[in-house]
Amino acid sequence: MGRRKNDSAVGRFSILILFLMGVISCCMVYYSISVVFVPSRTDPTISVLDSGQPVDPEGGEEEEEREEFCCRGIEHWELWGDAVKWGSQFKLNSSEECCTACKAMCRKDGPCLCDSWVFCGNQEACGARFGECWLKKQKNSLELDRRDSGDHVMWTSGFFFAEEQGIVGLETEYGTLRLKLFPDCAPRSVAYILELLQLQHSVGFQFYRAESRGSFWDSEGNHVENAPFGPPFALVQGTLEAHGTIFTQIPAEFCPDIRRGSVAWVGSGPDFFISLANHLEWKKAYTVFGSVLPEDIEIVEKISQLPTKLEVWSNINVSVLEKPVTLRFRMIGTDHDNPQLQ
Ligand SMILES: *[C@@H]1O[C@H](CO)[C@@H](O)[C@H](O)[C@H]1NC(C)=O
Ligand SMILES: *[C@@H]1O[C@H](CO)[C@@H](O)[C@H](O)[C@H]1NC(C)=O
Repeated sequence: MGRRKNDSAVGRFSILILFLMGVISCCMVYYSISVVFVPSRTDPTISVLDSGQPVDPEGGEEEEEREEFCCRGIEHWELWGDAVKWGSQFKLNSSEECCTACKAMCRKDGPCLCDSWVFCGNQEACGARFGECWLKKQKNSLELDRRDSGDHVMWTSGFFFAEEQGIVGLETEYGTLRLKLFPDCAPRSVAYILELLQLQHSVGFQFYRAESRGSFWDSEGNHVENAPFGPPFALVQGTLEAHGTIFTQIPAEFCPDIRRGSVAWVGSGPDFFISLANHLEWKKAYTVFGSVLPEDIEIVEKISQLPTKLEVWSNINVSVLEKPVTLRFRMIGTDHDNPQLQ
């Protein structure tokens, strides 16, 4: 793979170069998720985006994963719900197998007979129940019957939605963005969003940064050849931290390439962004937990063009909204409530 060009470089600069490379590679891992998004307190001398080649924290070795192949769960988490298959008579070797068995009960165009699963995968803790795979059906897939969580819980649970379900609304004064959530890829992130849906208030949710595609990405989000990679960075950024609640950081989950419409955390949340561009240059640095429906991306475009003021974060020009856009989550039912979806 990519060999360094200056292998033969010798002389008094080589030690300095080696030292700098060490510093940079450490810094890049540290800053790769923060440079573009976080107003930094320190002053990193590198900008991931200047080179257009931000670091891939996994080393870029992982194979291309696709959304539809995700079948992930949350460890130490127990979901209840009506059993459609009893684990005492159904043992499997891995949580993925259990998840796949549940998914197999979804028909392409119909409801899912199974939408959640619970697996006992820790031989020591599970004892005789090791391998049990319980397939379940939630009464309301947006209101999980979560029974217990924490280190003492030996179960791993996961959930997903039927084809047209799992869409939540993010209301703004410019229109409601419908987000399709990816619980099978980013279950912890989606579980958090479902918790937010249950809140009686949404004080504190807002977009505070807005940057258009400029002339660097086309209307389909593709990068224009030889154009810079920003600023502007073709995104809106906000926070989903509710006032009065304590936010627990969300560990990294599924990190595909960022595409136009992708909704992803900045680091481990609660700040997040919606991308207006295919930011392939960011590699797989961000947990993507949903996507804006294509019909609603125009609302994001509109927000991206609102008046902003310049701020400089870590030497990067950032456009901060003069007036933040307030957000509010809203339940959205199936496609019956969304005629445009059909
Ligand atoms: C689980 O693994 C064991 C041993 O590797 C194998 O014999 C068994 O067939 C596997 N069970 C399933 C359901 O794949
Ligand atoms: C940042 O903004 C300043 C002031 O508008 C401008 O002079 C500078 O060129 C900008 N830098 C980048 C990298 O766009």
